[in-house]
Amino acid sequence: MQVVSISSLKGGVGKTSVTTGLASAALAAGIPTLVVDLDPHADATTALGVQAGEQLDIGRMLKNPRKARLLDNVVSSGWVEQARRHGGGTALDVAVGSAYTGIYDRPDLGRRDLRRLTSVLAAAEKYELVLVDCPPSLNGLTRMAWSASDRVVLVAEPGLFSVAGTERTMRAIQLFRQEFAPQLAPAGIVANRVRPASSEHTFRLAEMESMFGELLLAPHIPEQANWQQIQGAAHAVHHWPGDSAKNTAKLFDTLLENMLSSQNGTRERRQR
Ligand SMILES: Nc1ncnc2c1ncn2[C@@H]1O[C@H](COP(=O)(O)OP(=O)(O)O)[C@@H](O)[C@H]1O
Ligand SMILES: [Mg+2]
Repeated sequence: MQVVSISSLKGGVGKTSVTTGLASAALAAGIPTLVVDLDPHADATTALGVQAGEQLDIGRMLKNPRKARLLDNVVSSGWVEQARRHGGGTALDVAVGSAYTGIYDRPDLGRRDLRRLTSVLAAAEKYELVLVDCPPSLNGLTRMAWSASDRVVLVAEPGLFSVAGTERTMRAIQLFRQEFAPQLAPAGIVANRVRPASSEHTFRLAEMESMFGELLLAPHIPEQANWQQIQGAAHAVHHWPGDSAKNTAKLFDTLLENMLSSQNGTRERRQR
């Protein structure tokens, strides 16, 4: 099992979109995957087409991690049914998001609270991949996600503030590793909403390449005109008709492959 957090300092850069794009690629590749929706806005839960039932949401599981019974409380993504119709897919489960997680999104979360997600995920061994969609801040919830993770993926748009914000977030991760999470590999960075025709984007991407080197993951994800439509329909990009969705699906396939095979990502799961 490998736990990957998808984080950024701010909202709207594409954390949920990258999480769901990677989840779609994992489903297509037959990798048993769990998405943990740690953002109180619960956008990933919506995009993954989850029909919530009696299950506990992730906020309630975190409240009492030892009684969380994760495997009884995850919900299958609506994408699995779509995948069956396309003749593929195995398991894509969701630990459902809720506003309730907000109680942990404080800047001063203590060491014990930081380990709540780690405890909940102790029961997640059957998944090969766990993707944690983080809220848009570096407060308690994101730090709780980092504590439970092997790897952080930062999402950034190629703009001035975004590049500066990514550098600050990298420093925050370094400090966090030293103090709380020695197992955490350095973050990889996904450039999202890239417009290849924009000279500003080309300039910022070159800047990011020189600043972050190999940590800037390939490929970049372009701005996709119908992305909101796909998300609004609660569809996996792999199941959406048309060439542009197919191209984006392929990019997420390669991104997932590169992410999982990159030097820091292949380390054996640590002992819990
Ligand atoms: N590559 C993309 N192309 C087009 N729209 C995108 C892309 N990535 C994200 N968006 C849109 O930008 C908005 C914010 O993305 P989202 O994934 O919700 O960001 P975050 O989770 O970081 O807040 C959403 O409306 C989403 O549909
Ligand atoms: Mg989000």
